[in-house]
Amino acid sequence: MRVSQRVQSIKLSGIRKMFELVGSKTINFGIGQPDFQPPPKAIKALANAVREGWNKYTSTYGIPELREKIAEYFLSKYCDYTGENILITIGGSHALYIAIMSLIDKGDEVLVPDPGFVLYAPHVTLANGKPVYYTLRIENDFRPDIEELKNLINKKTKAIIVNSPNNPTGGMLEREDVKAIADLAEDYDFYIISDEVYNVFVYEGKHVSFLEYSDRVLYPMSFSKIYAMTGWRIGFLAGPKEFIDQAMKLSYYTIACPSAPMQRALLDIIGDPEVEEYVRNMISEFKRRRDYVFKRLSEIPHITVSKPKGAFYVLPKYDLKIPSEELAMKILNEKDVAVTPGSAFGPHGEYHFRISFATSMRQLEIGLNRLYEFFSSL
Ligand SMILES: Cc1ncc(COP(=O)(O)O)c(C=O)c1O
Repeated sequence: MRVSQRVQSIKLSGIRKMFELVGSKTINFGIGQPDFQPPPKAIKALANAVREGWNKYTSTYGIPELREKIAEYFLSKYCDYTGENILITIGGSHALYIAIMSLIDKGDEVLVPDPGFVLYAPHVTLANGKPVYYTLRIENDFRPDIEELKNLINKKTKAIIVNSPNNPTGGMLEREDVKAIADLAEDYDFYIISDEVYNVFVYEGKHVSFLEYSDRVLYPMSFSKIYAMTGWRIGFLAGPKEFIDQAMKLSYYTIACPSAPMQRALLDIIGDPEVEEYVRNMISEFKRRRDYVFKRLSEIPHITVSKPKGAFYVLPKYDLKIPSEELAMKILNEKDVAVTPGSAFGPHGEYHFRISFATSMRQLEIGLNRLYEFFSSL
């Protein structure tokens, strides 16, 4: 079978191999999704939507009322976007893909965080662009170095991808970082793809949105995390209307339209006080876990840890000369704990590993005890 060069140019992430070895008793710190179910009202709303006949195609843009509601509820605090600035998508992944495919031409360079979420560089490669890594270092609490960014920018730079709160680091951009990057985009005429899907998972400080500081922003968003509905596959892309109208064509030719019942259910629950309370409770539970994980990791020999400010990940660095994939395998084989090797997130992820604390306190306690034993024996 002669598979296209395009598809051959991207590799399936190495972490897959490891997670295929995860057993039913393994303490799994690899999972990037809340262990909560969606709010009960969301589940009811979805069942109602199907019963009421929301089982047909919708507009490719998405249901107009939902687009309006998203603009009003999620974005009006940052900018004056209306429903016309919104394209409903199959989750944040699809929003990101549509944004990159509609923005990037052959040879364009895109600044990509390293370590960073596993989709960014492959999406740029698929669009025939060139991912150019900028480094997030633990010593700087995983904030970007603005001088490094300046050195990486050239005439081919078309966009930067930013992600705050961050997967895999748990780091967050400060207001001054957001302003500085927004200024660079203006001065050097490039765009900002701002992935803020973890924007409600904030444990200290304040989330600052790029939408407040720049009108050159494409904003891929997801309902997966906020409403614990990763399997529903729904999100949206926000951006300038003329961009959304063009990007819609790509969405039409790939998915026809987003799922009707999911859209209808979201329309019912966005802004509902009971749902908001559910989300608040989930986040306070995540904060409790974040505090616990940070405290326990700080006591483990050989590792350095930056306290995560948001999302539900922590990315400790270790001082052993073992590549992270090998280390993760060793931890899995010897302690039956699955962590994600840092190298899966880019070259500077090497000598780090990621723990997701989107799992129960009991699992965290057992797993961290085992990690303590593992590193103490080295
Ligand atoms: C940083 C980041 N962006 C986007 C996504 C995409 O989420 P989804 O496609 O489930 O909406 C994820 C999922 O893990 C993520 O971690």
